[in-house]
Amino acid sequence: MPSTWNNRNLHLSIFGESHGGGIGVVLDGIPGGTKIHLPTLRAFMERRAPGRTSTSTKRKEADLPEILSGALPGGDEDTLIACGTPIAAVIRNTDTHSKDYSQMAALARPGHGDYTGHLRYNGFNDVRGGGHFSARLTAPLVFAGGICKQYLSQRGVEVGAHVLSIGGIGDKPFDPVRVCAADFEAAAARQMPVLDQAAGQRIAEAVEQARLNQDSLGGVVEAAAVGMPAGIGDPMFGGIENVVSSIAFGIPAVKGLSFGEGFGFGEMSGSLANDPFYMDGGEVKTETNHAGGILGGITSGMPIVIQAAFKPTPSISRPQKTIDYINKTDAILEIKGRHDPCVVPRAVPCVEAALAIALASFLA
Ligand SMILES: Cc1cc2nc3c(=O)[nH]c(=O)nc-3n(C[C@H](O)[C@H](O)[C@H](O)COP(=O)(O)O)c2cc1C
Repeated sequence: MPSTWNNRNLHLSIFGESHGGGIGVVLDGIPGGTKIHLPTLRAFMERRAPGRTSTSTKRKEADLPEILSGALPGGDEDTLIACGTPIAAVIRNTDTHSKDYSQMAALARPGHGDYTGHLRYNGFNDVRGGGHFSARLTAPLVFAGGICKQYLSQRGVEVGAHVLSIGGIGDKPFDPVRVCAADFEAAAARQMPVLDQAAGQRIAEAVEQARLNQDSLGGVVEAAAVGMPAGIGDPMFGGIENVVSSIAFGIPAVKGLSFGEGFGFGEMSGSLANDPFYMDGGEVKTETNHAGGILGGITSGMPIVIQAAFKPTPSISRPQKTIDYINKTDAILEIKGRHDPCVVPRAVPCVEAALAIALASFLA
């Protein structure tokens, strides 16, 4: 079931195509009684929505979810209370320009899923706007993640993220020991979601330059969770890393994930890499947090810190060599549609959503 995800008591199923009637999600397993504050949920989804900044696609979608089931009015017009049964939501597509994709019925966008999708679905997949391969499908993921974030917050766990780098230009990383909810709020409040505003300015300029060059840039999102109780997770195949990976790789264009020091561990010695334990009053803590809050697949009680690497947006407007996969000929493709010159700023809430869904599945 490629568009269905499960861990423990939490189940998620995402449906739709970019230029079809709509997209949506069924989220099952959110405990009854969980409060859903609608303005907070909408503000979270707004951070992913297209057409809001110069670094994103010009496609403009209201992206307002219609909640069909699983939640009842919660006393005021801004609040719903989860019933504990499946929460279903649909988001209508409105701003579709399908004719931009007419030549893609046969010409494969290099770096995109057009050719492999054609093979996988025997030529019957909806190619308009990337169909089910479109990053538009991250809207329902972010809806589900927004509900999981609120559930986690009610359990004392906060999740946030920022752009760690784009095109090699870096933001200040999270402090893996002291990262806190105020860092998450600071990044979320910025149009370019970074911790260091000056770095954000340089990053925005680089993205604009890539757009003017008819090119695109990749980058890295860093996400963290604070307040996660110690002792949650499993060794082997049910670890926090396994479960986070299984959902985070569902975000299109994610090509690498790392936890804590990640690939940096390969260049460290044990005496530097090990996080010394100490007692802080009655609480077990570590002085450093290279482990990113996970040991043996199980939470240590320190902040969970992950990084997700995104490739540059495949759809760039300069002419590219490709093939016509129906007529089996070489061809040149010039993409006319509206695309993100860099997916990373809009991907920040997607990574937050993936981390929140994964962690919520261990607590729900
Ligand atoms: C938030 C977000 C926005 C994206 N926007 C675009 C886009 O405008 N154009 C595009 O070609 N790809 C875009 N992508 C990436 C493609 O959806 C993705 O590269 C493609 O589906 C192929 O999958 P893969 O890169 O995981 O192999 C976006 C990805 C994300 C996460």
